[in-house]
Amino acid sequence: MSTPTEQPTKNALGYQEFSIGHFRFARDEYFAHITYPKGAHFMAVDQFLRCILRDVAWGFFYGTLNFDNVVGTIQNYGTVELFCGLMNEAYVAANRQYVERFDTKDLQRVFSAMVEDWTNEGFDPFAAPSETGSAYGPKHGTNPAALSRQRVVASRMVGLPGDVGYRTDENGYPLNRHFRDVPTDQPEVHAEPGFEGSVHAFNLYNYVARSDVTWNPSVVSQVKYSLFCPTTEEYILPVKHGNDRVEWFVQVSDEIIWDVEDGKTGKPRARVTMKAGDVAAMPADICHKGYSPKRSLLLVWENGDPTLPQRYARRELNPYPVEM
Ligand code: PHB
Ligand code: FE
Repeated sequence: MSTPTEQPTKNALGYQEFSIGHFRFARDEYFAHITYPKGAHFMAVDQFLRCILRDVAWGFFYGTLNFDNVVGTIQNYGTVELFCGLMNEAYVAANRQYVERFDTKDLQRVFSAMVEDWTNEGFDPFAAPSETGSAYGPKHGTNPAALSRQRVVASRMVGLPGDVGYRTDENGYPLNRHFRDVPTDQPEVHAEPGFEGSVHAFNLYNYVARSDVTWNPSVVSQVKYSLFCPTTEEYILPVKHGNDRVEWFVQVSDEIIWDVEDGKTGKPRARVTMKAGDVAAMPADICHKGYSPKRSLLLVWENGDPTLPQRYARRELNPYPVEM
């Protein structure tokens, strides 16, 4: 296990440089630069910030978050691996892959500090490109409001007493510009006598259409390990997600195109166009990246069972949920 060695120093553009273990991170006006013992890598800084903010906000999510075809993180539930080239067949064949494992809280601290320092005033890494300012240029200002959003996680269901509340015009969540036609009425609940406290319903379209962020699944209901995680999507999912369990996708409105690749090598497997009403089971051994030409509503159905990653890794479970 590596220990963090953070000694932030500022460069001529006003940005701090960061390090953890043997990784070093620097940014210039357009790019994030990553150096590690076997090489150096760089990527567009807006894309990089969109990825590390999701890593931070999601607590490193399930499985792998690839920032591009080279760099990314692997969730080990307590520790996290940061890698270059590990999920890239060509890097591995040339023995150019490099990976280090960190305590989750240590990498979380460095990524949080980096996204905070490198995000300029006006840039929101969770917003659609049409709804945010630019990430580029020398350091100017900060955007703490955009970085402090907590991932919404209902403990039972949105709208129940004591649980996550509704989004309304009044509390700062107007309907998104692409969803002004969504019905906003509430369902009628007619419970049998004696069951009044046990039945609940809310208008999910009205709730999700008011999300001010993209590619950020929130948990709206939990029943044991069954988690309903709707999200609004526009432009490109910044990370390429390597699943460590099967995920079901229900395309609720509009359209998303998914590039699906082998989770370990990045070899292309499929391109799936999901139109409103389509349902797909994304296998446990793939990675995928989504493209949404206009804002669309996607329901991600997750299985939160913590034993699943090991059971798939041991091949006790097939990576797909049905035999046809
Ligand atoms: C996924 O990788 O499964 C995923 C992540 C974020 C989203 C949608 C899907 O917004
Ligand atoms: Fe996924």
